[in-house]
Amino acid sequence: MDGPTPERILQVGLGFWSSKVLLSAIELELFTVLAQGPETLAGISTRIGLHPRSARDFMDTLVALDFLERRDGRYGNTPATDLFLDKNKPSYVGGILEMANARLYGFWADLTTALRTGKPQNEASKGGDDLFKALYADPDRLRSFLKAMSGLSRGANLAIARQFPWKNYKSAVDVGTAQGDLVTQVALANPHLQGIGFDLPQVGPIFEDYIADNGLAGRVRFEAGSFFDDAIPKADVVMMGHILHDWDLDVKKMLIRKAYDAVPEGGALLIYESIIDDDRSKNAFGLLMSLNMLIETPGGFDYTGADCIGWMKDAGFRDARVEHLVGPESMVIGFK
Ligand SMILES: C[S@@+](CC[C@H](N)C(=O)[O-])C[C@H]1O[C@@H](n2cnc3c(N)ncnc32)[C@H](O)[C@@H]1O
Repeated sequence: MDGPTPERILQVGLGFWSSKVLLSAIELELFTVLAQGPETLAGISTRIGLHPRSARDFMDTLVALDFLERRDGRYGNTPATDLFLDKNKPSYVGGILEMANARLYGFWADLTTALRTGKPQNEASKGGDDLFKALYADPDRLRSFLKAMSGLSRGANLAIARQFPWKNYKSAVDVGTAQGDLVTQVALANPHLQGIGFDLPQVGPIFEDYIADNGLAGRVRFEAGSFFDDAIPKADVVMMGHILHDWDLDVKKMLIRKAYDAVPEGGALLIYESIIDDDRSKNAFGLLMSLNMLIETPGGFDYTGADCIGWMKDAGFRDARVEHLVGPESMVIGFK
């Protein structure tokens, strides 16, 4: 029988069940433990501390969701969870999900309030410090946040290192560089380039460790500053990953103007994040990310490629285009 079915409505409506099972598995470090080898139910229950009532349901749910495999009574990681959710591998992407579990999962319970009031629903709205203040006060939390950003951005960073016409340029500055994964991947793939990571001073030591680990200390350096108070360091290409969406329209335009001033004639501005499709009907992740900016920030929002191209042209860039990177991520490139 053809016709509408309620299946997708129910699947999305109860989607938080699956989401929380995965987030709890990451919190319990299940995939890190199983990376050492498959385990029986009893063995895994002892190692990560599961109560017998629901241990089997929990593990079998992860099998049914394709995050674990079960063979001959033993549970093991899938190739994807082994590569991306074992904390001991450099390919670990769970940092961002740890943060989602510890913070966003609870804050999103107040989405309806956010939609009615237009006000964030994170630590800041609950009387605590705002996220960045809390992070910058605690070097360990800051280090894990910046590492989490690298995990989230790695795929797009590798695509940018390959796709952008780097041979036409000699230097690049990454604004709001965090641990520095973008400038690292770009410099590793393009040995002729000099790079700068620009971020708040607290980020410096974490950036410098990462650059040294990647053998780039001679070619990539840190410059401390705030993009509110300081000029963006000069380079042929200014890059900004997941920066503009944190801020309101005036700040977005101010940052694009500062980027314009930082590059020479012939230089370029490369902005990337989950750029929304111009029809605002396909990139659901980008649209959800924009709602996440409502939860997290006073004025931030995500935007379409056409919006960004408009702001770039207003700032003086002569030409601009959008190029898809990976998954929901695209870059907008403006040419001066
Ligand atoms: C959401 S993270 C993006 C990190 C990275 N670009 C990426 O895409 O993975 C935002 C970054 O902006 C930096 N940031 C925040 N305020 C800043 C400011 N006023 N000046 C310079 N950097 C700032 C933060 O320290 C953080 O590294």
